[in-house]
Amino acid sequence: MLVLGLETSCDESGVALYDTDRGLLGHALYSQVDLHRDFGGVVPELASRDHIRTVLPLLDSLLTQAQVKASDIEGVAYTVGPGLMGALFAGAVLGRSLAYGWQVPALGVHHMEGHLLTPFLVDSTLEFPFLVLLVSGGHTQLVWAECFGCYRLLGETLDDAAGEAFDKVASLLSLDYPGGPALAQLAECAPVDVAQTVKFPRPMVQKPGLNFSFSGLKTHCLHVIEQLRKKNEWNEQRRVEVAYAFQEAVVDSLLVKCVKAVKETKTERLVLAGGVSANQHLRRVFQQTFAQSNANLKLFFPPAAYCTDNGAMIAYAGALRLLAGEADQSLGIRVLPRWSLESLSPPSK
Ligand code: KG4
Ligand code: ZN
Repeated sequence: MLVLGLETSCDESGVALYDTDRGLLGHALYSQVDLHRDFGGVVPELASRDHIRTVLPLLDSLLTQAQVKASDIEGVAYTVGPGLMGALFAGAVLGRSLAYGWQVPALGVHHMEGHLLTPFLVDSTLEFPFLVLLVSGGHTQLVWAECFGCYRLLGETLDDAAGEAFDKVASLLSLDYPGGPALAQLAECAPVDVAQTVKFPRPMVQKPGLNFSFSGLKTHCLHVIEQLRKKNEWNEQRRVEVAYAFQEAVVDSLLVKCVKAVKETKTERLVLAGGVSANQHLRRVFQQTFAQSNANLKLFFPPAAYCTDNGAMIAYAGALRLLAGEADQSLGIRVLPRWSLESLSPPSK
């Protein structure tokens, strides 16, 4: 079954074609970064309007590039939630209208299920059940994935998501939007023997359970910068050190809870997905730690292009559900800006 996937939950317009027999035929992405840069973050109304402007031309170029005719498409999957209401609505209206025009089924897909299944796009050795750390701009969750559609939330952030913390601290460091990748790049400039003059706490690591917290790190960062400024010690070297120390603290906090969850679930597979899983330091630390401590555990990281928002993950998750016969029933269009992964079920008619 050949399925078109549309992703418009935030500030990336993603389109992709996934065929359940042939795999991913192509995907294309348009980032709205330039549009939101002057505002230092995503402006929801501008995001919705830009999705409406960009999705169809993006689709045209994808069809040409993948040498697929619109009439070959047998289903349309679009992100229905969670995400920004207007942005989701833009994608839902476009997806439902295309499906209606082409007389094929349409299906609203859970954005985080898309992230969670991404490694299947590239790695045929992954199988259920597995543990997954979802780390993005809107979510930080530890999820037990028992089967396709059966997800149990083991822990989540009590305040900011990890990506959100990266973005906010990046702004404190006067880094350009979007901050996460820029902060990671700055931290990579730290010398191997980076002087640890700047120390960051490891939130929640002593607490029982599998929840996270990142908003305190942001406040800590603000205080550190203020102190250094007062002492006239705020310079480029300190800036790199703060970026490094902050990134290290986030990664350590994620790692401690993952080590715990791996032990508790006795899993042999750990998936890392979502924008922050593109972080190179995170990948290195997780790989080193588990290689030394748990030889039975296999780590799955999607390629960086599939860690951040993209249409391929929506096309994939949607294609599996559409193939099983699931589809939107009424002509009404609604979106789900807040939507728990646990409320999903395995594919059904
Ligand atoms: O999954 P995603 O594209 O969108 C959401 O669903 O939120 O994740 C975006 C988040 C942003 O906060 C961004 O700063 C962060 O992922 N991010 C990174 C890196 N690449 C993206 N954070 C740290 N290091 C990176 N290399
Ligand atoms: Zn996402």
